[in-house]
Amino acid sequence: MSTSVRTRVAIVGAGPAGLILSQLLADAGIESVVIDQRSRTEIESTIRAGILEQGTVDLLTAIDPHTRVHTVGHRHDGIELRFGGEGHRIDFRDLVDRSVWLYPQHEVLTDLLALRLAAGQDLRFGVTATRVEDVDTDRPRVIATDADGAPLTIDADFVVGADGSRSVVRPAVTGTSQGGWFREYPFAWLGILCEAPPSADELIYSNSDNGFALISQRSPDVQRMYLQCDPVADPDALTEEEIWADLQSRVPGTTLHQGRIFQRDVLRFRSFVAHELRRGRAALVGDAAHTVPPTGAKGMNLAIADVVILAAALRALLAEDDARLIDGYAQTASRRIWKAQHFSWWMTSMLHVAPDAGEFDRRRQIGELRSVVDSRAGRTYLAEAYTGWPAGV
Ligand code: DHB
Repeated sequence: MSTSVRTRVAIVGAGPAGLILSQLLADAGIESVVIDQRSRTEIESTIRAGILEQGTVDLLTAIDPHTRVHTVGHRHDGIELRFGGEGHRIDFRDLVDRSVWLYPQHEVLTDLLALRLAAGQDLRFGVTATRVEDVDTDRPRVIATDADGAPLTIDADFVVGADGSRSVVRPAVTGTSQGGWFREYPFAWLGILCEAPPSADELIYSNSDNGFALISQRSPDVQRMYLQCDPVADPDALTEEEIWADLQSRVPGTTLHQGRIFQRDVLRFRSFVAHELRRGRAALVGDAAHTVPPTGAKGMNLAIADVVILAAALRALLAEDDARLIDGYAQTASRRIWKAQHFSWWMTSMLHVAPDAGEFDRRRQIGELRSVVDSRAGRTYLAEAYTGWPAGV
């Protein structure tokens, strides 16, 4: 049995981008349908990054003044860069009068799903989009299969691909599923979650001869840490003792509180921007449009920045029949996308040790880190980018 539904905006993907877009559209009286191939439990339990920019927190607070970001999350007013065995604090408050919040992405998703479902959002789990048709007309549609395997068609005025790096919407926008600019990196991160108290009050980004390590936190008794590894590393290859010895060797000066490691994953590094972000009545946001390497935690924040721009454009198009903003969407969004691409690439290349790095490269890298920490201008650039540029610049 084939079903067909009609809505104004069909949103493929119930990640942070798709859910926030549905909220901003609802606020403007524009109805949408959100579909995701995953189950609600899967969405709420996928481990992702944990840092929210100031602007992201401001938006989440505007959406829900009681957001748990302020009760469960933690405000961080700086980070530490460590190299040559010494730590250097980047003081966000002093430099740019902004902060970031440590609040994991799956918590953001748990909050947003509860909020949207309570508001009566048409949100369908286990629905797999297979393709998007007719984006060059004003009646684009999403062809999908519902949770029971039955065909589902969503007819809309506009289709949004918020469906991640393996986007099904992207080919309808770019012409081919791979159409974009990209760069690969010769390393990845082994991410761990462990049962231990925090080893530091703020995040430590550490460059060492043994490779990069990031000491992050989650809660008083669970911590998140990452260490640079080979892109094809098997996450289960090392024993817990080997992981702790390796991590500890990369953060000289801090004694890590060790505990049972109960989760491991390997995060691939890739920089990607699709050639086209919008075609006719379809647009891409978030990882469907671009991916960044994880250093600096820009992924979710950038997705949300896209959505703010797109929501305003869709409001103008669908409520006022004014196409100027949607015609400028790709250009407007690209400004921030490429700034974030640069920042993520820069943090990555400044802090990691490439497998083929020679003595010159190591010394140059230390020179680069010194020119950041020794200069107020250098620290200010890092603080400004890390906490997130204000909207529209
Ligand atoms: C985390 C992840 C990041 O990529 C980062 O730069 C900082 C923190 C995290 O998961 O805690």
